[in-house]
Amino acid sequence: MTPLSELQFPEVAENIARLVPYVPGKPIEEVERELGITGIIKLASNENSLGPSPKAIEAVRRLAAKMHHYPDASSFRLRNAVASQLGLAPETLVFGNGSDDIIHLLGVTFLEPGDEVIQGDPSFVRYEAAAILNKAPCHLVPLTSDWVHDLDAMKAKVNAKTRLIFITNPNNPTGTIVTRAALDRFLDGLPDRVLVVLDEAYYEYATADPDYPQGLDYVRDGRNVVVLRTFSKAYGLAGHRIGFGAMRPDIAAWLERTREPFNVNLMAQAAAEAAITDVEHVANSVAMNTAGKRDFYAAFEELNLPYTPTHANFVWVDMRRDCREVYTALLHRGIITRTGTPWHVPTYLRVTIGTQAENAKFLSALREALL
Ligand SMILES: Cc1ncc(COP(=O)(O)O)c(C=O)c1O
Repeated sequence: MTPLSELQFPEVAENIARLVPYVPGKPIEEVERELGITGIIKLASNENSLGPSPKAIEAVRRLAAKMHHYPDASSFRLRNAVASQLGLAPETLVFGNGSDDIIHLLGVTFLEPGDEVIQGDPSFVRYEAAAILNKAPCHLVPLTSDWVHDLDAMKAKVNAKTRLIFITNPNNPTGTIVTRAALDRFLDGLPDRVLVVLDEAYYEYATADPDYPQGLDYVRDGRNVVVLRTFSKAYGLAGHRIGFGAMRPDIAAWLERTREPFNVNLMAQAAAEAAITDVEHVANSVAMNTAGKRDFYAAFEELNLPYTPTHANFVWVDMRRDCREVYTALLHRGIITRTGTPWHVPTYLRVTIGTQAENAKFLSALREALL
């Protein structure tokens, strides 16, 4: 990436100059090219190592010869499939090129310069990007010492300018949740112009916990709440880029004005429509994750590495040394993880829970890396 000082067109607006390009988990092919090794395992982007539903693969295969057509701009079939699966009215749903797209649209649609945004820290980095893009200051409110959203401190930041509040549940990178009781308290008495965005990208991994709130209940109750879901995680469709927001129809109608007409491609719609009904594949993915979580916890305890119990498909674990050293040592052993450095947490790694074989390779490489 070109350093800021060398960019040719310095006359962009100050807010655009402040935007930082997103740094994704390293792609497998890039590590192969750079290090000349093969058999690489990627545990860096919280993808589903079990892969996509076979039904999604079949749906895409069937559609391949029709790719000369534009996709259905209204995602009609997918909309009805998701609505009936979730017990929602079809007009409550807005589909996007990943849930990233919906975060972007929320910013473009609802933020005016000077409006304020509130989010936890560390948490998902794209909320702040949406705020900066729309000239809205973003309050980054530190998580508690247990790495949980500090809803009291977030509420204390609310004022007449507050427009969007992002709560990531479970949170990325920490895997922690806010409970139904805490969220009820938080939502109570918020000003009418505030929209609370519950980002439930990892919903499927968390929902078995009785304290985990069902965000869609707030939508059904007509609250100022948007729930974000994605097909990139438990559904295994990250490469297709598809996610959605569920919200009151009047809120959805505004996003329909800012959304690009063909923001969800043909294959993604078909794959997601097939995947949403494959409950068995999701159940298998969650079961794989539960087993992997146990293996990770046991190893981290034996290695004396503090970790945060997770409600998602990754673990936030303290290496008790510069995490970049461990990251690099793992990379040279063919394992891609994520350092805590983007969140300014210099000793933590975030590692995705993979298949049993991937987890075993990761743990064995970790033991070597820590020697
Ligand atoms: C909390 C959270 N929200 C949103 C996203 C974006 O997901 P996608 O755009 O793939 O739907 C991610 C991806 O890692 C995430 O962790």
